[in-house]
Amino acid sequence: MSSGAHVLVVDDDAQVRRFLAGELAECGYVVTECKDGATALAATKAQAVDCAVVDVNLAGENGVELLRGLHAVQTDLQVVMITGERSVEVAVSAMKSGAFDYLTKPLDTERLTVAVRNATAVVEKEREIRRLREAVRDSCGFRAVLGTSPSLRRAVGLAERVAASDVPVLLTGESGTGKEVIAQAVHASSRRASGPFVAINCAAIPSELAESELFGHEAGSFTGALGRRAGRFEEAHGGTLFLDEIEAMPSAIQAKVLRALQDRAVTRVGGSKSTPADARIVAATNRSLEKMIGEGRFRDDLFFRIAVVSIQLPPLRERMEDVPLLAEHFLREAAERGGHAIRGWSAEAMQSLLRYAWPGNVRELRNVSVYASLVCDAETILPCHLPDRLVQASGTPGEAVGPRLEDAVEALERWLISDALRRFGGVQARAAEFLGTTKRILNYKISKYGLGRDREASRAGGGDGGGDGGGDPESKEPPCVAADPPGAPGETSGGPEGP
Ligand SMILES: Nc1ncnc2c1ncn2[C@@H]1O[C@H](COP(=O)(O)OP(=O)(O)O)[C@@H](O)[C@H]1O
Ligand SMILES: [Mg+2]
Repeated sequence: MSSGAHVLVVDDDAQVRRFLAGELAECGYVVTECKDGATALAATKAQAVDCAVVDVNLAGENGVELLRGLHAVQTDLQVVMITGERSVEVAVSAMKSGAFDYLTKPLDTERLTVAVRNATAVVEKEREIRRLREAVRDSCGFRAVLGTSPSLRRAVGLAERVAASDVPVLLTGESGTGKEVIAQAVHASSRRASGPFVAINCAAIPSELAESELFGHEAGSFTGALGRRAGRFEEAHGGTLFLDEIEAMPSAIQAKVLRALQDRAVTRVGGSKSTPADARIVAATNRSLEKMIGEGRFRDDLFFRIAVVSIQLPPLRERMEDVPLLAEHFLREAAERGGHAIRGWSAEAMQSLLRYAWPGNVRELRNVSVYASLVCDAETILPCHLPDRLVQASGTPGEAVGPRLEDAVEALERWLISDALRRFGGVQARAAEFLGTTKRILNYKISKYGLGRDREASRAGGGDGGGDGGGDPESKEPPCVAADPPGAPGETSGGPEGP
């Protein structure tokens, strides 16, 4: 159980040291003997250490000083102190300095092994928590925002730069462009990351309940208000409040929200005293608030308060080069979840994806990928596995704006080439033959699209860029899984409540 953990035994008495080391080695620990503080510090700098057993009275040295030194090198190791005296002061001073436990000589080996076992268990748990935190940060943070198009990267770059500050951010863009994904990433990368992320969809709250929903209420403050209840502003205290579809906020509420933001406090409906509610505001809208201000439907003072930084998310049809990357990611995710052995998109299906205008943006692409994975009874997704609207969309008569021809063509070319390279393990001659072109042309296109670099870039950007979910020798990294979708596939308007 305990085997493998690395324990230092630091004692100037060679006999005691050897004895303790032997006992611990027998329990399965990897033990390093250190005769003094300098040796212990050197060992800690050289290797990961889980626990150090330190004699308080090292010849001419202070064991408590050493404890601080060890912690300075590796903050997460635990120290068990040993002393010859039954001195309460020394014990207290050791524990105050952060020792995990304290044992007196003559040593009871049973107590020693229990102390070391507990110490290493704590270290292991703390490391596990850190790993999980990092995984959560990766799945909710900016790594979850996929796409390499310059317009998206510009928006994401700005969001990343302002995330750490506490300024309010306004995200604009059509529905399904990733506003909520960015809002979560801003929160996860902010100083408030360990605080709550509370999402409210302003369009989904009936206006007569909006005030109580946002600010809470005291018991009996209105018909139906049974108990007292904290509002969403209070819930978000210390964290981030995501006001989605803020254009739908009733005007009467707008004034109260402004007040709450200025005061960093709220007063519950029917209450008289104010409660602190300090939340960072991230708002989202798919309308032009400026236009609404002009029409007298949105307060300009609230607008200036929430739009300190305004970030526009581009619609998918204006960044068609992101379609293949996103489609591959969503398909892999859907196939894994559903346990389907689907290798990827066929060139014909990808062509359909790239001819479509994506009025529902990334959300629609995700839904189409899920649909295709469910309908597909073959190894690769064929056009017959796509919803009819995509296959018929070559001209897309009903659509006001389609994808820009050149972007779509380039995106398809780029995808076909990287797909062929992947298929033939990067051997250009075979990829060229497969694509019915010459090596020279292929080579030219590879450098034109920066495909060598691109794989790295898309990795750095969070996606793993390639892979059909299996057999790709390069996909060692775990796929970057996006944050749990804020709604089941198929929902058309993002309007989730926060976690
Ligand atoms: N850049 C992106 N990378 C990965 N997934 C995305 C991206 N943009 C959007 N999505 C996915 O698309 C769906 C809709 O995104 P969402 O943030 O809710 O859009 P919006 O809030 O703008 O309506 C979600 O399932 C989300 O995970
Ligand atoms: Mg949304």
